[in-house]
Amino acid sequence: MLIRVNLNGTIVPAAEARISVLDHGLLFGDSVYETLRTYSGRPFLLSRHFGRLKHSADGIHLKLQWTRDDVRREVQRTLDSESRAGESRIRVMVTRGPGELSLDTETTADPSLIIIVVPLQELAHEIYERGVAVIVSSIRRSRLLADIKSGSLIRQVLAFSETKSKQAFEAILLTEEGYLSDGITSNIYLVEGNRLMTPSLEAGIVEGITRGVVLDLARSMGLDVIEGLFPGNELDQADEMFLTSTTREVVPIVSVDGKTVGSGKPGPVAMALLKSYRASIAGLLEEG
Ligand SMILES: Cc1ncc(COP(=O)(O)O)c(C=O)c1O
Repeated sequence: MLIRVNLNGTIVPAAEARISVLDHGLLFGDSVYETLRTYSGRPFLLSRHFGRLKHSADGIHLKLQWTRDDVRREVQRTLDSESRAGESRIRVMVTRGPGELSLDTETTADPSLIIIVVPLQELAHEIYERGVAVIVSSIRRSRLLADIKSGSLIRQVLAFSETKSKQAFEAILLTEEGYLSDGITSNIYLVEGNRLMTPSLEAGIVEGITRGVVLDLARSMGLDVIEGLFPGNELDQADEMFLTSTTREVVPIVSVDGKTVGSGKPGPVAMALLKSYRASIAGLLEEG
């Protein structure tokens, strides 16, 4: 797989990209990140992703030394460094930087901006046509700092391995109190009649960029959007379910822990939202 890396402004082959073993990003997961994708080779909603990166950095008191335009320029340079057909997945991360073997952030000096670009593995059409099976993970999500996309992802690593061992597509995480939160790397939605329900920020979710677009589309389609705290057993009531994320767009969910959701087929709301999400991409690309 072709991997392009931009390490503090220098584009290097992945095998030669080196950071210090004393980088607090490596030692403590003391870093923040974003995952973006391209459409027609162009980064999608970079400004919104930068806004969330800034929010995450502020949340861990990490001063970003790069402006939105700096990040946009470096992402573009990385994309331009190799011509390749197909879309890209882009990870933008900022680590605390090298310091002492101590939790003290004041021992660190220079944060690193690391951009990694890999070919985007797009989902097969059949996945959208048939829908996916998900599980409820045994791993719970803490609501504390949940809105910060930090490099401390051990719960997600374990939930991913559990999901893979059960041959599921994604796992839904409950909060420690048993409320629905989000997927491992996606937001989740339940449809009941004309109501579109999705966990609120209070439920310890990452405020998905895709979620923002999809909720606007849902409102304009006349759905009654309800963001709130929903107990885990709300899953049993849903007529349909779906998930969203940057790289996967809108994916219908047809079973949870082996139990069929609604008709067992992708629901009309999910399919309508997928269609209008894709129709809105060209316009949103202009937003930059
Ligand atoms: C925990 C979590 N929730 C939701 C999302 C979806 O966010 P987005 O739509 O911005 O990709 C992500 C993305 O990685 C995530 O990590």
